[in-house]
Amino acid sequence: MMFARSSVRTLTQARQFSSSSARQTKVTVLGAGGGIGQPLSLLLKLDPHVKQLNLYDIRGAPGVAADVGHIDTGSEVQGFAADKLDDALEGVDVVICPAGVPRKPGMSRDDLFATNASVLRDLATAVARVSPKAIFLIITNPVNSVVPIASRVFEKAGVYDPKRIFGVSALDVVRATRFVAALTGKDPKDTPITVVGGHSGETIVPLFSQSPAAKTITGEAYKNLVHRVQFGGDEVVQAKAGAGSATLSMAYAGAKFANALFRGLAGEKGVIIPSYVKSPLYASQGVEFFASPIELGPNGVEKIHPVGQITEQEQELLKVALEGLKKNIQKGYAFVQ
Ligand SMILES: NC(=O)c1ccc[n+]([C@@H]2O[C@H](COP(=O)([O-])OP(=O)(O)OC[C@H]3O[C@@H](n4cnc5c(N)ncnc54)[C@H](O)[C@@H]3O)[C@@H](O)[C@H]2O)c1
Repeated sequence: MMFARSSVRTLTQARQFSSSSARQTKVTVLGAGGGIGQPLSLLLKLDPHVKQLNLYDIRGAPGVAADVGHIDTGSEVQGFAADKLDDALEGVDVVICPAGVPRKPGMSRDDLFATNASVLRDLATAVARVSPKAIFLIITNPVNSVVPIASRVFEKAGVYDPKRIFGVSALDVVRATRFVAALTGKDPKDTPITVVGGHSGETIVPLFSQSPAAKTITGEAYKNLVHRVQFGGDEVVQAKAGAGSATLSMAYAGAKFANALFRGLAGEKGVIIPSYVKSPLYASQGVEFFASPIELGPNGVEKIHPVGQITEQEQELLKVALEGLKKNIQKGYAFVQ
Protein backbone atom coordinates (compact mmCIF):
# COMPACT_ATOMS: atom_id res chain seq x y z
CA MET A 1 0.00 0.00 0.00
CA MET A 2 1.56 3.27 -1.12
CA PHE A 3 0.10 5.62 1.45
CA ALA A 4 1.87 8.63 0.09
CA ARG A 5 0.57 8.09 -3.38
CA SER A 6 -3.00 7.40 -2.36
CA SER A 7 -2.93 10.48 -0.17
CA VAL A 8 -2.33 12.88 -2.97
CA ARG A 9 -4.60 11.00 -5.24
CA THR A 10 -7.40 11.79 -2.83
CA LEU A 11 -6.42 15.43 -2.89
CA THR A 12 -5.89 15.78 -6.60
CA GLN A 13 -8.76 13.70 -7.83
CA ALA A 14 -11.29 15.66 -5.84
CA ARG A 15 -11.85 17.94 -8.81
CA GLN A 16 -15.23 18.90 -7.51
CA PHE A 17 -16.19 18.86 -3.89
CA SER A 18 -17.45 15.45 -3.11
CA SER A 19 -20.08 14.62 -0.59
CA SER A 20 -20.50 11.41 1.36
CA SER A 21 -23.39 12.43 3.57
CA ALA A 22 -25.90 15.10 4.39
CA ARG A 23 -25.11 18.72 5.15
CA GLN A 24 -24.10 18.67 8.81
CA THR A 25 -20.97 20.69 9.52
CA LYS A 26 -20.94 24.10 11.20
CA VAL A 27 -17.89 26.11 10.18
CA THR A 28 -16.35 29.42 11.24
CA VAL A 29 -13.86 31.34 9.08
CA LEU A 30 -11.59 33.69 11.06
CA GLY A 31 -10.21 36.40 8.78
CA ALA A 32 -13.14 36.02 6.36
CA GLY A 33 -12.80 39.56 5.04
CA GLY A 34 -9.27 39.03 3.69
CA GLY A 35 -7.71 38.02 0.41
CA ILE A 36 -7.94 34.33 1.27
CA GLY A 37 -10.95 34.61 3.55
CA GLN A 38 -13.33 35.92 0.89
CA PRO A 39 -12.81 33.28 -1.83
CA LEU A 40 -12.48 30.59 0.85
CA SER A 41 -15.89 31.61 2.22
CA LEU A 42 -17.28 31.46 -1.30
CA LEU A 43 -15.92 27.94 -1.84
CA LEU A 44 -17.18 26.78 1.57
CA LYS A 45 -20.64 28.08 0.61
CA LEU A 46 -20.47 25.64 -2.31
CA ASP A 47 -19.43 22.67 -0.17
CA PRO A 48 -22.27 20.18 0.23
CA HIS A 49 -21.18 19.27 3.78
CA VAL A 50 -21.51 22.76 5.22
CA LYS A 51 -24.69 23.49 7.13
CA GLN A 52 -23.78 26.78 8.82
CA LEU A 53 -21.04 29.22 7.78
CA ASN A 54 -19.98 31.87 10.32
CA LEU A 55 -17.77 34.61 8.91
CA TYR A 56 -15.64 36.65 11.32
CA ASP A 57 -13.00 39.33 10.80
CA ILE A 58 -11.89 42.46 12.58
CA ARG A 59 -13.20 44.24 9.52
CA GLY A 60 -15.65 43.51 6.73
CA ALA A 61 -17.09 40.11 7.62
CA PRO A 62 -20.78 41.16 7.71
CA GLY A 63 -20.45 42.50 4.15
CA VAL A 64 -18.83 39.31 2.88
CA ALA A 65 -21.52 37.28 4.65
CA ALA A 66 -24.37 39.31 3.12
CA ASP A 67 -22.84 38.78 -0.32
CA VAL A 68 -21.92 35.08 -0.05
CA GLY A 69 -25.21 34.43 1.77
CA HIS A 70 -27.21 35.10 -1.42
CA ILE A 71 -25.68 32.11 -3.20
CA ASP A 72 -28.32 29.45 -3.78
CA THR A 73 -26.88 26.54 -1.84
CA GLY A 74 -28.39 25.07 1.31
CA SER A 75 -26.07 26.47 3.98
CA GLU A 76 -26.90 29.42 6.22
CA VAL A 77 -24.34 32.24 6.37
CA GLN A 78 -23.91 34.71 9.20
CA GLY A 79 -21.44 37.58 9.49
CA PHE A 80 -19.90 38.73 12.77
CA ALA A 81 -18.42 42.14 13.52
CA ALA A 82 -15.08 42.64 15.28
CA ASP A 83 -16.55 42.50 18.81
CA LYS A 84 -18.50 39.28 18.16
CA LEU A 85 -15.70 36.72 18.09
CA ASP A 86 -17.19 34.50 20.80
CA ASP A 87 -20.59 34.47 19.08
CA ALA A 88 -18.92 33.48 15.81
CA LEU A 89 -17.28 30.47 17.50
CA GLU A 90 -20.25 29.23 19.52
CA GLY A 91 -21.19 25.61 18.78
CA VAL A 92 -19.15 25.11 15.60
CA ASP A 93 -17.44 21.91 14.47
CA VAL A 94 -14.62 23.36 12.40
CA VAL A 95 -12.72 26.67 12.60
CA ILE A 96 -10.63 27.72 9.58
CA CYS A 97 -8.18 30.55 10.16
CA PRO A 98 -6.59 32.64 7.41
CA ALA A 99 -6.40 35.73 9.70
CA GLY A 100 -3.23 37.80 9.80
CA VAL A 101 -0.89 39.73 7.53
CA PRO A 102 0.51 38.26 4.29
CA ARG A 103 4.01 38.71 2.84
CA LYS A 104 5.32 41.56 0.77
CA PRO A 105 8.20 41.13 -1.76
CA GLY A 106 11.47 40.25 -0.02
CA MET A 107 9.80 38.86 3.09
CA SER A 108 10.05 35.27 4.28
CA ARG A 109 7.13 33.62 6.06
CA ASP A 110 9.17 33.82 9.24
CA ASP A 111 9.17 37.63 8.91
CA LEU A 112 5.42 37.49 9.57
CA PHE A 113 5.96 36.01 13.02
CA ALA A 114 6.15 39.40 14.74
CA THR A 115 2.56 40.23 13.77
CA ASN A 116 0.86 36.91 13.26
CA ALA A 117 2.09 35.09 16.37
CA SER A 118 -0.04 37.31 18.58
CA VAL A 119 -3.01 37.20 16.16
CA LEU A 120 -2.91 33.41 16.32
CA ARG A 121 -2.36 33.29 20.09
CA ASP A 122 -5.38 35.52 20.69
CA LEU A 123 -7.66 33.71 18.25
CA ALA A 124 -6.54 30.29 19.57
CA THR A 125 -7.32 31.49 23.10
CA ALA A 126 -10.87 32.28 22.02
CA VAL A 127 -11.29 28.98 20.17
CA ALA A 128 -9.98 27.05 23.22
CA ARG A 129 -12.43 28.87 25.47
CA VAL A 130 -15.59 28.90 23.32
CA SER A 131 -15.29 25.88 21.01
CA PRO A 132 -12.56 23.65 22.47
CA LYS A 133 -13.88 20.58 20.64
CA ALA A 134 -13.79 22.22 17.22
CA ILE A 135 -11.22 21.10 14.67
CA PHE A 136 -8.87 24.04 14.12
CA LEU A 137 -7.38 24.47 10.62
CA ILE A 138 -4.61 27.06 10.54
CA ILE A 139 -3.68 28.80 7.29
CA THR A 140 -1.99 31.82 8.89
CA ASN A 141 1.78 32.01 8.33
CA PRO A 142 4.32 31.11 9.49
CA VAL A 143 2.42 27.80 9.75
CA ASN A 144 5.54 26.02 11.08
CA SER A 145 5.54 28.23 14.19
CA VAL A 146 1.91 29.24 14.72
CA VAL A 147 0.61 25.65 14.90
CA PRO A 148 2.88 25.07 17.95
CA ILE A 149 1.59 28.38 19.35
CA ALA A 150 -2.05 27.31 19.03
CA SER A 151 -1.21 23.90 20.46
CA ARG A 152 0.48 25.41 23.50
CA VAL A 153 -2.47 27.78 24.03
CA PHE A 154 -4.87 24.80 24.01
CA GLU A 155 -2.55 22.89 26.34
CA LYS A 156 -2.51 25.76 28.82
CA ALA A 157 -6.30 25.97 28.68
CA GLY A 158 -6.43 22.24 29.49
CA VAL A 159 -8.28 21.35 26.28
CA TYR A 160 -5.49 20.21 23.96
CA ASP A 161 -6.23 17.34 21.62
CA PRO A 162 -3.45 17.06 19.02
CA LYS A 163 -5.83 15.24 16.69
CA ARG A 164 -7.82 18.44 16.24
CA ILE A 165 -5.23 21.05 15.26
CA PHE A 166 -3.95 21.16 11.67
CA GLY A 167 -1.55 23.39 9.78
CA VAL A 168 -2.84 23.66 6.23
CA SER A 169 0.02 22.75 3.88
CA ALA A 170 -2.28 21.66 1.06
CA LEU A 171 -1.15 24.49 -1.22
CA ASP A 172 2.28 22.88 -1.48
CA VAL A 173 0.63 19.70 -2.75
CA VAL A 174 -1.52 21.66 -5.19
CA ARG A 175 1.52 23.54 -6.52
CA ALA A 176 3.76 20.46 -6.79
CA THR A 177 1.04 18.59 -8.63
CA ARG A 178 0.39 21.47 -11.02
CA PHE A 179 4.08 22.07 -11.74
CA VAL A 180 4.71 18.40 -12.52
CA ALA A 181 1.68 18.35 -14.80
CA ALA A 182 3.06 21.36 -16.65
CA LEU A 183 6.45 19.66 -17.13
CA THR A 184 5.15 16.25 -18.16
CA GLY A 185 2.08 17.32 -20.11
CA LYS A 186 0.00 14.90 -18.06
CA ASP A 187 -3.34 15.65 -16.44
CA PRO A 188 -2.73 16.76 -12.80
CA LYS A 189 -5.01 13.99 -11.56
CA ASP A 190 -2.53 11.49 -13.01
CA THR A 191 0.53 13.12 -11.41
CA PRO A 192 -0.21 13.11 -7.69
CA ILE A 193 2.66 14.42 -5.57
CA THR A 194 3.15 13.99 -1.83
CA VAL A 195 4.77 16.93 -0.03
CA VAL A 196 6.07 16.50 3.52
CA GLY A 197 7.99 18.53 6.14
CA GLY A 198 6.67 22.00 6.82
CA HIS A 199 5.24 24.99 4.99
CA SER A 200 8.12 27.38 4.36
CA GLY A 201 11.01 27.37 1.88
CA GLU A 202 13.44 24.54 2.54
CA THR A 203 11.15 22.88 5.07
CA ILE A 204 8.90 21.94 2.11
CA VAL A 205 9.93 18.51 0.80
CA PRO A 206 8.23 17.23 -2.37
CA LEU A 207 8.56 13.47 -2.86
CA PHE A 208 8.72 13.22 -6.64
CA SER A 209 10.22 9.72 -6.48
CA GLN A 210 6.86 8.40 -5.30
CA SER A 211 5.11 9.59 -8.45
CA PRO A 212 5.54 7.48 -11.62
CA ALA A 213 5.29 10.62 -13.76
CA ALA A 214 7.62 12.82 -11.73
CA LYS A 215 10.33 10.28 -10.93
CA THR A 216 11.52 10.51 -14.52
CA ILE A 217 12.49 14.16 -13.92
CA THR A 218 16.20 14.28 -13.06
CA GLY A 219 19.27 16.52 -13.04
CA GLU A 220 18.81 20.29 -13.46
CA ALA A 221 15.10 19.89 -14.18
CA TYR A 222 14.68 18.06 -10.85
CA LYS A 223 16.56 20.73 -8.92
CA ASN A 224 14.54 23.51 -10.54
CA LEU A 225 11.31 21.71 -9.79
CA VAL A 226 12.19 21.22 -6.12
CA HIS A 227 13.10 24.90 -5.88
CA ARG A 228 9.87 25.94 -7.59
CA VAL A 229 7.75 23.96 -5.12
CA GLN A 230 9.72 25.27 -2.13
CA PHE A 231 9.62 28.87 -3.29
CA GLY A 232 6.53 28.90 -5.52
CA GLY A 233 4.84 31.30 -3.12
CA ASP A 234 7.50 33.89 -3.97
CA GLU A 235 6.36 33.89 -7.62
CA VAL A 236 2.96 35.09 -6.47
CA VAL A 237 4.33 37.58 -3.94
CA GLN A 238 6.58 39.12 -6.61
CA ALA A 239 3.89 39.19 -9.30
CA LYS A 240 1.46 40.88 -6.90
CA ALA A 241 4.20 43.44 -6.21
CA GLY A 242 3.23 44.42 -2.69
CA ALA A 243 -0.46 43.58 -2.91
CA GLY A 244 -0.07 40.34 -0.93
CA SER A 245 0.60 36.64 -1.43
CA ALA A 246 -1.37 33.69 -2.79
CA THR A 247 -5.06 34.11 -2.07
CA LEU A 248 -7.06 32.36 -4.80
CA SER A 249 -4.93 29.21 -5.07
CA MET A 250 -4.76 29.16 -1.27
CA ALA A 251 -8.53 29.47 -0.95
CA TYR A 252 -8.84 26.56 -3.39
CA ALA A 253 -6.32 24.46 -1.44
CA GLY A 254 -7.96 25.37 1.88
CA ALA A 255 -11.44 24.49 0.63
CA LYS A 256 -10.16 21.22 -0.79
CA PHE A 257 -8.51 20.33 2.50
CA ALA A 258 -11.66 21.32 4.41
CA ASN A 259 -13.76 19.13 2.14
CA ALA A 260 -11.49 16.17 2.87
CA LEU A 261 -11.80 16.89 6.59
CA PHE A 262 -15.61 17.10 6.35
CA ARG A 263 -15.67 13.73 4.63
CA GLY A 264 -13.47 12.21 7.32
CA LEU A 265 -15.67 13.71 10.05
CA ALA A 266 -18.72 12.23 8.32
CA GLY A 267 -17.17 8.76 8.60
CA GLU A 268 -15.78 8.29 5.10
CA LYS A 269 -12.80 5.93 5.21
CA GLY A 270 -9.48 6.28 3.42
CA VAL A 271 -9.39 10.07 3.11
CA ILE A 272 -5.66 10.81 3.27
CA ILE A 273 -4.03 14.20 2.75
CA PRO A 274 -0.69 15.69 3.78
CA SER A 275 -1.02 18.15 6.67
CA TYR A 276 1.21 19.69 9.34
CA VAL A 277 0.25 18.18 12.69
CA LYS A 278 1.66 17.10 16.04
CA SER A 279 3.53 14.03 14.90
CA PRO A 280 5.59 11.25 16.45
CA LEU A 281 7.59 10.66 13.23
CA TYR A 282 10.60 12.88 14.06
CA ALA A 283 9.74 13.84 17.65
CA SER A 284 12.84 12.02 18.90
CA GLN A 285 14.90 14.55 16.89
CA GLY A 286 13.12 17.46 18.56
CA VAL A 287 10.67 18.00 15.69
CA GLU A 288 7.25 17.63 17.29
CA PHE A 289 5.23 18.92 14.34
CA PHE A 290 5.58 17.54 10.84
CA ALA A 291 3.56 17.35 7.64
CA SER A 292 3.04 13.87 6.24
CA PRO A 293 0.05 12.06 4.75
CA ILE A 294 -2.72 12.15 7.36
CA GLU A 295 -5.75 9.91 7.35
CA LEU A 296 -8.77 11.93 8.45
CA GLY A 297 -11.59 10.55 10.56
CA PRO A 298 -14.43 11.45 12.93
CA ASN A 299 -11.99 12.93 15.49
CA GLY A 300 -9.71 14.73 13.03
CA VAL A 301 -6.38 12.91 12.72
CA GLU A 302 -7.17 9.21 12.38
CA LYS A 303 -3.68 8.02 11.45
CA ILE A 304 -0.32 9.64 10.74
CA HIS A 305 1.45 7.91 7.88
CA PRO A 306 5.25 7.93 7.55
CA VAL A 307 6.95 9.48 4.53
CA GLY A 308 7.52 6.04 3.02
CA GLN A 309 10.38 5.12 0.71
CA ILE A 310 12.41 8.07 -0.47
CA THR A 311 15.62 8.63 -2.47
CA GLU A 312 18.97 9.81 -1.14
CA GLN A 313 18.32 13.25 -2.61
CA GLU A 314 15.03 13.41 -0.75
CA GLN A 315 16.76 12.25 2.45
CA GLU A 316 19.05 15.26 2.09
CA LEU A 317 16.10 17.61 1.60
CA LEU A 318 14.42 16.07 4.62
CA LYS A 319 17.51 16.60 6.76
CA VAL A 320 17.57 20.30 5.92
CA ALA A 321 13.81 20.55 6.51
CA LEU A 322 14.06 18.97 9.96
CA GLU A 323 16.76 21.44 11.00
CA GLY A 324 14.59 24.38 9.92
CA LEU A 325 11.45 22.95 11.48
CA LYS A 326 13.13 22.43 14.83
CA LYS A 327 13.96 26.14 15.04
CA ASN A 328 10.53 27.24 13.80
CA ILE A 329 8.79 25.04 16.38
CA GLN A 330 10.99 26.23 19.24
CA LYS A 331 10.31 29.83 18.24
CA GLY A 332 6.55 29.19 18.38
CA TYR A 333 6.69 27.43 21.74
CA ALA A 334 8.90 30.16 23.21
CA PHE A 335 6.26 32.76 22.31
CA VAL A 336 3.65 31.25 24.64
CA GLN A 337 4.90 31.41 28.20
N1 LIG B 1 -0.87 28.14 4.57
C1 LIG B 1 -0.62 28.62 3.36
O1 LIG B 1 -0.28 27.88 2.44
C2 LIG B 1 -0.79 30.09 3.08
C3 LIG B 1 -0.81 30.54 1.75
C4 LIG B 1 -0.98 31.90 1.51
C5 LIG B 1 -1.13 32.79 2.57
N2 LIG B 1 -1.10 32.33 3.86
C6 LIG B 1 -1.24 33.23 5.02
O2 LIG B 1 -2.61 33.51 5.25
C7 LIG B 1 -2.72 34.75 5.96
C8 LIG B 1 -3.77 35.66 5.34
O3 LIG B 1 -3.40 36.02 4.04
P1 LIG B 1 -4.34 37.01 3.17
O4 LIG B 1 -3.67 37.15 1.86
O5 LIG B 1 -5.75 36.57 3.24
O6 LIG B 1 -4.17 38.39 4.00
P2 LIG B 1 -5.17 39.64 4.05
O7 LIG B 1 -4.45 40.75 4.70
O8 LIG B 1 -5.77 39.87 2.70
O9 LIG B 1 -6.34 39.13 4.99
C9 LIG B 1 -6.13 38.83 6.33
C10 LIG B 1 -7.41 39.15 7.09
O10 LIG B 1 -7.20 38.82 8.45
C11 LIG B 1 -7.89 39.78 9.20
N3 LIG B 1 -7.39 39.80 10.57
C12 LIG B 1 -6.23 40.32 11.04
N4 LIG B 1 -6.16 40.15 12.38
C13 LIG B 1 -7.29 39.51 12.74
C14 LIG B 1 -7.81 39.06 13.97
N5 LIG B 1 -7.14 39.23 15.11
N6 LIG B 1 -9.00 38.44 13.96
C15 LIG B 1 -9.68 38.26 12.82
N7 LIG B 1 -9.25 38.66 11.61
C16 LIG B 1 -8.07 39.29 11.59
C17 LIG B 1 -7.68 41.10 8.45
O11 LIG B 1 -8.64 42.08 8.83
C18 LIG B 1 -7.82 40.63 7.01
O12 LIG B 1 -9.14 40.75 6.55
C19 LIG B 1 -1.31 35.35 5.94
O13 LIG B 1 -0.68 35.09 7.18
C20 LIG B 1 -0.62 34.58 4.84
O14 LIG B 1 0.78 34.54 5.01
C21 LIG B 1 -0.94 31.00 4.12
